Amino acid sequence: MTEGTGRRTFLKTVASIPLAFSFGLLISPFMRFLRPTIRPLDILGPSDQPAALKPVEFSDAEFPEAWVCLPFMFEQSYKEYNPEEKEVRKIPGYAVKLPNGEVVAYSRICPHLGCIFNFVKDPDECAKGYNFKPNGPVFACPCHLSVYDIAQGGKVVSGPAPRPPRSFTVKVTGDKISIVSLEAGGIA
Ligand code: FES
Repeated sequence: MTEGTGRRTFLKTVASIPLAFSFGLLISPFMRFLRPTIRPLDILGPSDQPAALKPVEFSDAEFPEAWVCLPFMFEQSYKEYNPEEKEVRKIPGYAVKLPNGEVVAYSRICPHLGCIFNFVKDPDECAKGYNFKPNGPVFACPCHLSVYDIAQGGKVVSGPAPRPPRSFTVKVTGDKISIVSLEAGGIA
């Protein structure tokens, strides 16, 4: 390599640094549009998805029969650009045993406008209080009367809610039932 070629390579390398930096600045908003949970200017870094503080645990014996419904509080840490760099939020949930023996868990935050909904076991009670008679136990929201069919994965069967409530991932180990994470996409 001649002295001239070496100098040219060196100058090219030096000149490319601000170019690469500008490219990073330009592409960062675009990447945040594609992946809103990545940090600004940290295109290749890990996303700042919320993380469970610790699983909520039940034992199998706490669900002796179908339609036992137990409330719980699930804590998640959210990345925030505050001095603590995080905020812990508490999400109320219900764990319910289905007739097939499976335990499912849902956030109690109504996907309509964020009220906290109830577990209503008796269809007649639902008909009186929520204007809809279901075939079995449901979740029902007192604010605008959305009703969710638990046996059908939280399907909306009445009212204005746009979709089922967010579900939790439930893991079973021996006789231990752990609620480990909330479906992604927000709280409500
Ligand atoms: Fe639950 Fe409107 S907030 S139905």
